Amino acid sequence: MNTALCKESYDRKIKRVLITEQQIKDRIKEVAAQVNEEYKSKPLMLVSILNGAFVFMADFCRAIEIPCEIAFMKAKSYYDTTESSGNVTITMDIPKDIANYNVIIVEDIIDTGRTLKEVVGILKSRNPLSLSVITLLDKPARRLVEFEADTALFTIDDYFVIGYGLDCAELYRNLPYIAEYSEEE
Ligand code: IMP
Ligand code: MG
Repeated sequence: MNTALCKESYDRKIKRVLITEQQIKDRIKEVAAQVNEEYKSKPLMLVSILNGAFVFMADFCRAIEIPCEIAFMKAKSYYDTTESSGNVTITMDIPKDIANYNVIIVEDIIDTGRTLKEVVGILKSRNPLSLSVITLLDKPARRLVEFEADTALFTIDDYFVIGYGLDCAELYRNLPYIAEYSEEE
């Protein structure tokens, strides 16, 4: 049997819970309240980048009480390890012109910052009414390009994290909390 599918070795990789379901819920409520206030009576579109942000988007959008549209994008990054600037190709785009919307990018994690910096550049060039970034997690210690989210729900140290949409080799996305991944065998 594939060791990745063995429940015992699967569980062993979950080193410790970093952020609980309740902590995530509480922060979502706080940040959604700010959005409800700030974007009242404004055309709003929440855009998230698949796959990592799908769980956060599902919970975050349900905490929003004002009218809003939901859209998804998919981006693929190609990086030379020696390069500090990257290349991002949009493999699935928003099916709509965003010129008449206030757009909020709803992201899972900002690590090196390269993906989001490029995606923000691409979306800005389409002239939305406004563009801001709300990220579930921020790992500032790992940044390779200058990039800051407008709002980060949690700032974490340099751990590789799994759960709540975040994966390791496509596994663990369905954990309801955020955990540190264990590199040990
Ligand atoms: P970037 O390095 O900021 O461009 O982040 C690119 C993508 O890497 C993120 O959107 C995540 O999907 C993924 N990523 C970065 N750090 C982690 C992590 O700790 N766990 C799981 N995925 C991560
Ligand atoms: Mg992502």
